[in-house]
This record gives sequence, C-alpha cells and structure tokens, in this order.
Amino acid sequence: MASSTLATKPNIKPANPNFSSGPCSKRPGYDLNQLDISTLGRSHRAAVGKAALKQACEQTAELLGLPEGYRVGVVPASDTGAVEMAMWSLLGARGVDVLAWESFGSGWVTDINKQLKLDNVRSLIADYGQLPELDQVNFDNDVVFTWNGTTSGVKVKNGDWIADDRAGLTICDATSAVFAMEMPWEKLDVITYSWQKVLGGEGAHGMLILSPRAVERLESYTPAWPLPKIFRMTKGGKLIEGIFRGETINTPSMLCVADYLDALNWVVEIGGVNAAIAKSKANLSVVETFVADNEWINFLAADPATVSNTSVCLTLDAEAEQVKAMVKLLDTEAVAYDIGAYRDAPSGLRIWCGATVEQSDLEALMPWLEWAYHSVKNA
Ligand SMILES: Cc1ncc(COP(=O)(O)O)c(C=O)c1O
Repeated sequence: MASSTLATKPNIKPANPNFSSGPCSKRPGYDLNQLDISTLGRSHRAAVGKAALKQACEQTAELLGLPEGYRVGVVPASDTGAVEMAMWSLLGARGVDVLAWESFGSGWVTDINKQLKLDNVRSLIADYGQLPELDQVNFDNDVVFTWNGTTSGVKVKNGDWIADDRAGLTICDATSAVFAMEMPWEKLDVITYSWQKVLGGEGAHGMLILSPRAVERLESYTPAWPLPKIFRMTKGGKLIEGIFRGETINTPSMLCVADYLDALNWVVEIGGVNAAIAKSKANLSVVETFVADNEWINFLAADPATVSNTSVCLTLDAEAEQVKAMVKLLDTEAVAYDIGAYRDAPSGLRIWCGATVEQSDLEALMPWLEWAYHSVKNA
C-alpha cells in the first residue's frame, strides 16, 4: 500500500481545467467571435458553403500529408458515422479480422458480429491495458481496428505490423490519433476521425479518408444488405466524388464547419501536424514524470511504448469510490473537469494530453492530483 501522507493544497490552478477526452478542450486562444460565419443562414450548396466544405477536405489532406489519390470527405454522425458508413459499405467481400482492446473497438466487434452478422470473422480481443497479438492478424482479410483506444489509453506503437502487400483493406478508427500521432497513411485504406477530439472541434460530423484501394472496393463490390442514404457513397457503381469535394450527403452544420476551419488554421499557426504531435508528446511527458515520481499512480497501459499521448489512462492505488471522490474534489475545486475513467473502463483517471491542452496546465494539475489523492486516502 502506498503511504497516505498529507499533501499541501497547491495554490496554482490550471488556467484551463478542461481535460476531457471528448469533446476535448478548445484550442488555446479560441474565441467564438473569430469564426468566419459568412456561411451561416445560407444553403450549404451555395458557392460560399461549398467552398468552406471543400476547404475542410483539401486543407485536411494537405496538412496531414495524405498520399496522392486519397479522398477526404465530411460525413454525418461524427466518428461513429464514418466508421459505420465504411464498415457497412465495404465489409463482406472477404473475411474480417477485427481487433479490440477497449470499449469503442468492442463496439465495432459487436457491429460486425451481431449487426452485420458476417461469416468468417476473427475477433482478436485484449483486456484493458493490453493490445491483441498483432502478429496474428491475417491481412488476406479486411482488418478493422482502433489506432488509439481512447478508453484504455493504449495505442498501437506504429504500423510496422501492417502488411504492405495486403489483399484485404485496413479500416482504422483513428479518432483520438489523427493530428496527435504519426500515421502511416499508405498502410491504411480507411481512416476516420471526428473534429471533437484532437482539434478540440465540435461533434456532429465525421471525417472519412479513403485510399484508392478502398475506392476500388466500393466500385467493385455491392453489399448484400440495404444501405441507408446517409451511408451511400456510390451511384451506378461509381464513387460519388462530390462527397469528397464538399458536396455532403445531407445538410451539415456550417457552424461546426467554421469551427473546424478555425482549428485547422490553428494547426497551421503552431507549425503544422508535426508541431501538434510534438505538443501532445510533451504533454504526456509531464504525466510520465509524475507517474515515475509517485508509486500510487500508474499507466493502465502495460507496455510503456503503447501509452497513449492523447487519452492518458491512469490506475490508482485506491478504491473505486475513492477515485470517484478524488475526481469530484478536483471538479469542485475547478482544477480538472471530466477526468474520471470511461464508464466501461477500470477505475482510474483519464487525462487528455492532445495539443489543445497546454503543458503548463498539466504541470499545474499534477500537484493537485497528489493533494486530492492524499485527501481522499486520509478522509
Ligand atoms: C476510439 C473511438 N471511436 C469512436 C468514438 C465515438 O466518437 P463519436 O462520438 O465522435 O462518434 C470515440 C469517442 O470517444 C472513440 O474514442
């Protein structure tokens, strides 16, 4: 058992106590009044609306450095919408390997097995804190996985385990990774994310990125099941290219689009995606130092190389009720909001370290964790 000495109450609070893992903190300096709202109250199909949506797609591709031929589309229903649209449109052509190591990945396992009811599915599952055995993946199958498990704080280290000469497609839910982690785009055929995570944008819309191989599948395969209109990406056996030029399937929130463009501009201002990644890693290093110095707190991720640099999940030498009390205490003190572990995950803390969070705020938070921990242990 850890000692429960009394810690002094710190007197410096984080300037911004928003450490939620989604929706995540707005970017530093965010000001609603700075959004370009010239698109509001107009048709999203008017030139001004279409231009904003096209810019969202094009600027994303440029900033992320996507390979030639990759399409970027704005789709309905946030990251979930993008993942389900991809799975419902693409799966069933060959066997599927689906990987899961936390709650959201498990959701895709359920979709594939219980809703799509596919045959020839291998579910490779690991417990919270672990990764499945990546060397067991069969790339003759389509492979569905999450780059960063937001509810366990475990990410894949890199894409070295993904076959270059794969026959199947790789479908990657990368919602808490894009703009925070290096992504090997050539190894990924479908990539999804939402604006509300790393960029601190709004919910509502998802981003769907398709490789040329994914497009080829869409144009050569028709699923056996009906597809609702909001999932349909082809017409007459051809990709509806307009979706990937800002002609959305249905009406988007142009306010959310304006907010997303503001976030992209901020990424440019700080020096691009590599700067955003570096900022996130520097944020994680604050927590790493704290964990190294305090025996009562640990990463949920068993392998240090898989510790997420966005959704940082921590286990504590404390009862679940004590952890809850600690989270409440920090909330009441207006020091940290929304840092309790996800409802399905093991008890603990989850602290967002993406680039919209400032390192100085994490540095200010750490002594408060110590104070709150000892306060609940001594209660
Ligand atoms: C890995 C992962 N997938 C999917 C989702 C669902 O995202 P959304 O609510 O944006 O659809 C989340 C949300 O936290 C997530 O972390």
